[in-house]
Order: sequence, then C-alpha cells, then structure tokens
Amino acid sequence: MRLGLIPENLIDRIGLATGFPPPAWTETYAPLYARAIVAATELGVFDAIGAGSLSAAEVASACATDPRATERLLNLLVSMRYLRFRDGRYRLAKSTARWMVSDASDGIRDLVLMKRLEWRWMEGLESYLRSGTPVDVHGTMSSDDWDAYQRGMRAQANIAGPRLARLIPVPRGARDMLDIGGSHGYWSVLLCRRHPGLRSTVLDLPAAVERAAPILAREGMGDRVVLKAGDALTDDLGREAYDLIIMFSLVHHFDDATNRVLVARACEALRPGGRMIIFEPLRPPPGRGVQAGPFFDLYFGMTSESGTWTLDEMTAWQAAAGLVPRSQPFALRFIGEAGLAVADKPLN
Ligand SMILES: C[S@@+](CC[C@H](N)C(=O)[O-])C[C@H]1O[C@@H](n2cnc3c(N)ncnc32)[C@H](O)[C@@H]1O
Repeated sequence: MRLGLIPENLIDRIGLATGFPPPAWTETYAPLYARAIVAATELGVFDAIGAGSLSAAEVASACATDPRATERLLNLLVSMRYLRFRDGRYRLAKSTARWMVSDASDGIRDLVLMKRLEWRWMEGLESYLRSGTPVDVHGTMSSDDWDAYQRGMRAQANIAGPRLARLIPVPRGARDMLDIGGSHGYWSVLLCRRHPGLRSTVLDLPAAVERAAPILAREGMGDRVVLKAGDALTDDLGREAYDLIIMFSLVHHFDDATNRVLVARACEALRPGGRMIIFEPLRPPPGRGVQAGPFFDLYFGMTSESGTWTLDEMTAWQAAAGLVPRSQPFALRFIGEAGLAVADKPLN
C-alpha cells in the first residue's frame, strides 16, 4: 500500500503517466484530509451516523457543530470514501462502520485520536533533519499524552493482533513470560488466552503503566497478566526466570549498542530452552520495498534513538547474546513489512 494520487478518470490517468499536473500540488494538501478524519472522529460524526443515515443538519445537531461547515466536512469524507451519500443523507462506508465507531469491537478510534500527539512530534522533522537529534517523545509527554499513546497502541494492536497471535511460536509448555515495553499488555493477553498455562509480566515505564493499567484491567486477566513499572534499560530483568520474552515495537526506540545490551540481559533472564521474540517493522534496503518501510524508518528516526532495523541486525543481537536464531521474515500485508526475530536459548 502506498499513499499518493489515485486517478479518478482517464484524463487523471494520462496526467499521472505524463507527470502533469505536478503530484506535489495535491499531495501537500494531505494534512487537511488527515485532519478531516481526526476531526470527524473527535467530534463524534461517525458515532452520530452509526448504523443509520443522517442529513448534514442532523449530524450538525448531534455533534453541536455548524451546519454549513459540517456539510463541507461530510462531503470531503464522501470523496474520501469514508461516507456514502444518497437522497440528501449520509451513511457510513462499510470500513468506517467496522473501524471508526466507538463501540466497534476491533475499532481503531483511539489510534486515530492519537494522531494529534504524533503530529506534534512531526513538527520536529526539520530540526531532526538539520541536527540528527530526535524528538524526545518519552521525556516530553504529559500524563494525558501518555493516556492517548497507550490507548493508541492498544487500538493499533487490535488491527493485526488476533490474527498474528496465532502465528507467534510460543514454546511448548511455557509458563512465565516477560513482555518488555508491553504497554497496554494486549499482546500478553492474546498469547495467554491462547496458552492457558502461560502468565505474563508486562514491563513498561512508570508513566506508561499508570495509564495502561485501566486498559489492561478491562481484559479481566487477573494475575495472569500483570503490569510492572520500571525501565528495561536499567532494571534487573531477573535470571533464568522466563520461558518466553517478547519485545514488540520496542527496539526502534534504542540504538544498536543499547539493543545489544538489552537483548543480552533479556537472554540472561530466559530459562534454558526459553525463547525471545522481537517484532518490528523492517527497514528495507534503500530504494526497495513498500512505502511504509522508509516511512517508519524516518518516523522512528525522528522520534526515537534509532530508526527501524533489518531482520539481520536484530538476529545478530540475539546471536551475540548466545541465542540460536530461528528467524522467519513475516510480511504484514497492507501496512508494510514487519519481522519476527525468533531465537532460542540453548539447553545447558
Ligand atoms: C511503540 S510502544 C509498543 C507497545 C507494545 N509493545 C505494542 O507492540 O503495542 C513502545 C513501548 O515501549 C515502552 N518503553 C520505551 N522505553 C522503555 C524502557 N526503557 N523500559 C520499558 N519500556 C519502555 C514505551 O513506554 C511504550 O509503551
């Protein structure tokens, strides 16, 4: 998948093929399209329409917004295929109904609401480009920002989590698991539900744990999935205490040397025969791969200590720690390429 101009008719197609008009003319308007989606979510437009169909005046009344301005927003959302329009009434497109309303069981509403936080981080792009110094996202977030971040991550895990959990190779008979940088704990929840003998400790920064606790509590996992506040880079991770250690979307936060040490310390915390699984978006070779690859490399470069990593780099940390890699590249369709770096601690 890539973001870009989509031709709407033959003339557009010819234009795109011949390079006229210039793509940047339209593509640089992307922020207004993005803001329309977020504003509609925040104002409750999708919730107001719900399973029914409303006129612009009815949407405006339900959302306490200006009728004419609301009509303009709704028409843009129709052009973006988020809404349908017939006989003066607007209804949700199928994918909007599935993903964007508050009571959708696998909805991404909270991920969309996190965009305002991410847009603030993106304000630092030019400064990052000049200095190479990333935005200190963890150091600059308010408590409400942490809340939006944890909710957003939880909603993101909704997208692929239930399907991906089936493919995560939990070692047979595993009892104890450590989920480093596990935030909302949903990955632990999914794995523990699939493996009844498994229980998990979710380690995350104190500010994250404070806001993640109510999100995890909703899952009703009791003491099978517990949160622990700490810093994975400095806290004692234990010794031969776990059968499975996962690090999902974590190592893009740290540079190579830090990850090498973290992986080695996590290896010490694994029991012999235990398994470590790192799950990350992958950095494609320059000029290759899908658009999301370079996007996430720049995004994480700008917001973290590093960008994305290749599967080879991640498996090299595991091998250096004494683990035996069993990596398998795993392509997450529709988003980009993500990798599972799976490695086992040898039996003594
Ligand atoms: C991108 S989120 C990923 C959350 C979750 N693993 C997932 O895949 O949905 C990264 C998480 O790592 C946590 N984190 C970052 N640095 C950390 C550290 N030094 N120790 C523990 N957790 C950390 C952040 O607070 C955040 O919750």
